[in-house]
Amino acid sequence: MMREGSSPMIHRADYTAPAYWIRSVDLAFDLDPAKTMVINRMRVERNIDVAPQPLRLHGEDLNLTRVLVNDASVSFRHEHGMLVIDSAQDLPAGEFTLEIRNTCAPEKNTQLSGLYTSASGFFTQCEAEGFRRITYFLDRPDVMAVYTVTLRATKAAYPVLLSNGNLLEQGDLDNGPNGPRHFAKWHDPFPKPSYLFALVAADLVVRQQQIRTRSGNDHLLQVYVKRGDLDKTEHAMNSLIASVIWDEARFKLPLDLERFMIVAVEDFNMGAMENKGLNIFNTKFVLASPATATDENYAGIESVVGHEYFHNWTGNRITCRDWFQLSLKEGLTVFRDQEFSMDMAGSASARAVKRIEDVRKLREVQFPEDAGPMAHPVRPDSYAEINNFYTPTVYEKGAEVVRMMHTLVGREGFANGMALYFERFDGQAVTCDDFAQAIADANPHSELARTLPQFERWYSQAGTPRLTARGRYDAPSRTYTLGVEQAGAPASHTTQEPFVIPFAIGLIGRDGRALPVQLEDEPADAPEAGKTDRLLVLTEARSFFTFVNVDVEPVPSLLRGFSAPVMLADGLDDADLLILLQHDTDPFTRWEAGQRLALNRLLAAARSNVPAELDTPFTEAMRSLLRHPALDAAFKDQVLTLPSESYLAEQLVPADPPRIHAVRQRMLAQMASALRVDWEWAFDAHQVSGPYSPDSLSAGKRSLANRALAMLCLDSVPRGDTVWPGRAYQRMNDATNMTDRLGALSALVYSHAPHAEPALHRFHELFRNEALVIDSWFKLQATAPEVDGKVFERAKQLLKHPDFSLRNPNRARSLLSGFCTNNPGAFHRLDAAGYVFWAEHVIELDAINPQLAARFARSLDRWNQLAEPYRSAAREAIVRVAAKPDLSGGVREIVTNALAL
Ligand code: PHE
Ligand code: ZN
Repeated sequence: MMREGSSPMIHRADYTAPAYWIRSVDLAFDLDPAKTMVINRMRVERNIDVAPQPLRLHGEDLNLTRVLVNDASVSFRHEHGMLVIDSAQDLPAGEFTLEIRNTCAPEKNTQLSGLYTSASGFFTQCEAEGFRRITYFLDRPDVMAVYTVTLRATKAAYPVLLSNGNLLEQGDLDNGPNGPRHFAKWHDPFPKPSYLFALVAADLVVRQQQIRTRSGNDHLLQVYVKRGDLDKTEHAMNSLIASVIWDEARFKLPLDLERFMIVAVEDFNMGAMENKGLNIFNTKFVLASPATATDENYAGIESVVGHEYFHNWTGNRITCRDWFQLSLKEGLTVFRDQEFSMDMAGSASARAVKRIEDVRKLREVQFPEDAGPMAHPVRPDSYAEINNFYTPTVYEKGAEVVRMMHTLVGREGFANGMALYFERFDGQAVTCDDFAQAIADANPHSELARTLPQFERWYSQAGTPRLTARGRYDAPSRTYTLGVEQAGAPASHTTQEPFVIPFAIGLIGRDGRALPVQLEDEPADAPEAGKTDRLLVLTEARSFFTFVNVDVEPVPSLLRGFSAPVMLADGLDDADLLILLQHDTDPFTRWEAGQRLALNRLLAAARSNVPAELDTPFTEAMRSLLRHPALDAAFKDQVLTLPSESYLAEQLVPADPPRIHAVRQRMLAQMASALRVDWEWAFDAHQVSGPYSPDSLSAGKRSLANRALAMLCLDSVPRGDTVWPGRAYQRMNDATNMTDRLGALSALVYSHAPHAEPALHRFHELFRNEALVIDSWFKLQATAPEVDGKVFERAKQLLKHPDFSLRNPNRARSLLSGFCTNNPGAFHRLDAAGYVFWAEHVIELDAINPQLAARFARSLDRWNQLAEPYRSAAREAIVRVAAKPDLSGGVREIVTNALAL
């Protein structure tokens, strides 16, 4: 396929309202894989607020067969890839009918954007700009229409015909070339932007359940999957029911549809899509059974089902004015799904673990993005390809911005703000400013309302703010003074003005006691006075706070709960961190203290290049944490997980990934041997018996047991001791759930145990027909710790495996991103062969699926931070890709930005 060399830049400042509105759409499809016919009848109206101008419609990869205005043919032309009808501006200002007929070729659509075929039938993906690949349209989110959709297809091959909204009619048609045909007609009463349109025509089976909600309304919930997968839909259905209940309870947002459908498809670029009433999901986030899915998979399903369901209000009822406002729906909806998962987790400890996981992800993925060539504000100012802006910054940092608002106005204040937001904007396409204003207006006396314009810098300024905090205790006056400075990220291209930073803190005595935190100008009887934790709000480049009645020199516990998405240098030493690790009542800062102890040692070792011995205070602290009688297994597992290589690389400039890998592996090995007896205890003490349940308590035990097993194998293999690897093999073979089975397999593969090969073989044999399990099998091998280039060799061999395919996004990602993004120690090689591998596959993938290629291309984003010779070699590989004249606009934007550094 030929494509243009580069896409023009789109700027947020250039937004103008559309010149026409499309009020309703009547679509009819004759579905055929090779050539689908689309009849698109629209009621169109000039936007009288805009000067009369020609009607310009988006269209891509379509064959146009006719254009009628008010049922009469009109002249039209093609200009810059758009269909232009000049005569429309001469029509009266009232409504007119525009009918367009065109065809498209779903089976040739390997991009998986627009209408495409996958194993069991036809599927669509329209966000962000896929609808224009189905028919000509004003394909922008501020044009909202009411859709009526008729689907016609061969009955035997495509027994299920679905679209948004309610089913009006269905029935049989006469014979087509492939046998009897049938039809279904759907109507969605809610006006929606084109990106929320969906259709499915496929051979599927359904799990369904009728529910009655609090408000007394009945709804039909359905989960459609391909034949044979019905036994893997129970968890998705339960998650959907829980989501409906939760949104009504927490935000008073009820389900507004008679019928809510989820459809799973094997070929899908992203996780899932919130099409109104007809969510389409990557199978990865629907299908689960104890035998095939891990605890992590179960948790992923709960959160993605929740996420898409919550979009029904935050995204669909109120949508984005333009794509620069993407975080309006995504940041808010991620915040909502995070809160949902926390509420589902139950105990305080399980909530904290979820928060820790979310922060870990933010630091591993979003912080690097914010310091690299693709850094952008939560509300970007420009883009070439919108698909490149479905980023951790828009999603995860966007969620942190919403969380900060929540922190500043309180739980109830936030609920009031949401209510006002819906009161003002239901049914409209709005901006991030509109959202923030509603939350502030509902809370006029809050810190958010007081600082709103400054707070909104979180939407406009890129880069991770850096905080430096220093405290000083004055014994005679029993006061403690805390100074905090904020500075913009050094890598950001623009100067940063100070942010509004909610800064939650506590003070801990050296004996572990939580001390009251009383500010100096506060009366002793103020409601806050006796409390042991509090929220400070930083607004200046430098702030000072003095606390009174502090009996002993405290250790400050700062940024509790990770109250803002910042980096913090607090100057605490090992002794302070050990106190926090032992006594902090805030689980986040407690966990963070453990991470910092590990990080300090890892960074020192990486900088000095002398293999360091792990010190006793550290191993003792880890031992007592592991053996702690009161802490939950999941929390222990989080403390005992070392910071990732990518997080380490961000702290080390220039970064030498193989060295970072070696240093981290060595520390793991030392923790494995120093705590051997404790790992043995942990493995035995955390076995879960009885039928599988994905609840957080059981999942926590399994994850700690799996970590113990991995440590025991890591310790045994170099010594030639086969007892634990043997046990791991047994467990891989006999386990009754996938969490234990995959945990055992990964313990063998990651320790390069002799049992790894037979285990991989056996595992493949057992699950050859389970696509999602085979994805994990590929990924596990691609992410194994490198030894003498063997992992790289294996990755290259796996490309030729009969089960491998670049056409299936999950499969391609398992191997390619597994190796290039998730295995830095293997990918960055002195001979640059990893980069050559990367360049070849970016190019190969780009010809098939440019969105996927552009995402994959980002594994070299941080080339500029690398030590030599990696840096120059990586740059050369990017230059090689950039030299290709026919790259997609998406990949072009990624490599151009990378080289602009
Ligand atoms: N809007 C989807 C979500 O966040 C993500 C998505 C974007 C899916 C673009 C497909 C294409 O849930
Ligand atoms: Zn989303």
